Amino acid sequence: MCGIVGYVGHREAAPVLVEGLRRLEYRGYDSAGLALVHRGRLKVHKAAVRVRELNDLVGKAQGTVGIAHTRWATHGEVTDVNAHPHTDTSGRFAVVHNGIVENADELRGKLQANGVTLVSETDTEALAHMIAAAAQQHESLEGAVRAVLRAVEGTYGLVVLDARRPGELVVARNGSPIVLGVGEGEMFIASDVSALVRHTQRVVYLEDGEIATVRAGDFQTSGRAETVELTDDDYELGEYSDFMRKEMAEQPEAVRRALRGRLDTRFATAHLGGLRLDPRDLREVRRVKFLGCGTAYYAGQIGANLVEELARIPADAEPASEFRYRNPVVDSDTLYVAISQSGETLDTLAAVQELKRKGGNVIGAVNVVGSAVARECGSGVFLHAGPEVSVASTKAFTNMTVSFAMLALWLGRIRDLSAAHGARLVSALQALPEQIESVLRTDQEVADIAGKYASARHMFFIGRVRGWPVAREGAQKLKEISYVHAEAYQAAELKHGPLALIDPEMPSVVVVPRDELLAKNIGTIEQIKARGGPVIAVTNAELPAGLADAELRVPANEPELDPILLTVPLQMLAYHVAAALGRDIDKPRNLAKSVTVE
Ligand code: F6R
Repeated sequence: MCGIVGYVGHREAAPVLVEGLRRLEYRGYDSAGLALVHRGRLKVHKAAVRVRELNDLVGKAQGTVGIAHTRWATHGEVTDVNAHPHTDTSGRFAVVHNGIVENADELRGKLQANGVTLVSETDTEALAHMIAAAAQQHESLEGAVRAVLRAVEGTYGLVVLDARRPGELVVARNGSPIVLGVGEGEMFIASDVSALVRHTQRVVYLEDGEIATVRAGDFQTSGRAETVELTDDDYELGEYSDFMRKEMAEQPEAVRRALRGRLDTRFATAHLGGLRLDPRDLREVRRVKFLGCGTAYYAGQIGANLVEELARIPADAEPASEFRYRNPVVDSDTLYVAISQSGETLDTLAAVQELKRKGGNVIGAVNVVGSAVARECGSGVFLHAGPEVSVASTKAFTNMTVSFAMLALWLGRIRDLSAAHGARLVSALQALPEQIESVLRTDQEVADIAGKYASARHMFFIGRVRGWPVAREGAQKLKEISYVHAEAYQAAELKHGPLALIDPEMPSVVVVPRDELLAKNIGTIEQIKARGGPVIAVTNAELPAGLADAELRVPANEPELDPILLTVPLQMLAYHVAAALGRDIDKPRNLAKSVTVE
């Protein structure tokens, strides 16, 4: 959420900065801007435009040091003035910021009382003025930034540029990520590695609470440089029109990566090496609680069902945002699982911190190695989905659910799950990549169905038990990228109220696994049809001919794994509805990836 880039070195900074912003645009795309120092003067170019338009604004601006930003608005509307970088009145200091200054009103009020004119409505501008004032009392820019941040409450990833010190940038991190890229006589700064790997594979993650000065040939941080395996190609679209399509297509390979080396056919179980938990400790686990936000939370619901089914341990999922604020009772015999693709989601990170304060046993299920949630948990399951750029999460969701199936299998096999049942699940997991491939091959059928229903203003997503989180995730995908209102509902609850909404204008997507509840789900479809509602069934069962108006079909597998396969056509449905409506699929309005604010 908000992308930050910085450069200090020997090349022209502007192209490096704009290219970096292009990589980070998924973190926010309300406005973009950059600041450069050339011949001792600060020059700022910014506007409420997308990064590609910023390029035209910048032209051939010169300078070998600079900072840049792509914004997801928090304080203040989406306007040119509110775009970052922000400067002090004299135009000497420029600041880019990701996060939220919680006491911004107080800080802005104090500045105004001292006669400072604030030109924007942002929290960040206050920091620029405060740094300018503090610089008069401190010899170093870092000293001034340090003094200012003592008065700041909230979260920040920050880069500060001083026109009189063109050889350095000051970076600070508290809750919002900052990564340094170490070059040869040049340094890069970004809010994530995707903007760095084009230039260098050597990176340093700033620790929370850390402030550092970065010069072309030198930096001092508490962390050491490490090598990342990612390259620029991992972030390229290649043959695809957008990242969501690319990432959906990558799911078979992503699942193969998640399974690699973790399935044990001999003992019919799974091994998750990163957990660093002894089977004896795991036997003591009396409860499992999954915590995450949005799509990660729905994946957690699938995880909880799997743990209950396979390991017979009571399990549930809760939005991390609710958990952190409700003063939860933390049991020492509960295993908490913090789920996050980005590893940056502030609510999830805060839930982990709350758990640790209370002595909870928390593991991570995280995609981004080195991210805040992964580091805070210290132990967990990496998802191995590869970089996910599209705001709408697809392959990370699938790998979350696959990882939870392995966790549940493991927990089950050190309890009462039989070797025969375990062996069936191992084979079923191994079959998933090819089965997902076969679902992806139904793309044209899904597109045709999507085209037929894309004009609907509302849609229901109905499921029960295994199908319920699938319905929730399906509704979420449709809402976020197509802006069609979608509501997920438990099948049996429909008749307690929402059935009143069914009419020929309200299509229902009904999740129908081929399991012991098949007859019940067929009954639900009949209730909807009896009221004139169109039905799209998502199923691996043979439904009575003509029952549903359309079918999205997936192959049959072990019933416990049905939710994994049944979600894939719903991603495709959302995608094609959004495409039919001409939406900007990778950059849905009002959203950004990595929600590092509350
Ligand atoms: C929806 C989506 C979001 C994220 C949520 C948590 O497609 O992507 O709902 O799942 O913001 O993000 P992570 O997993 O990065 O913590």
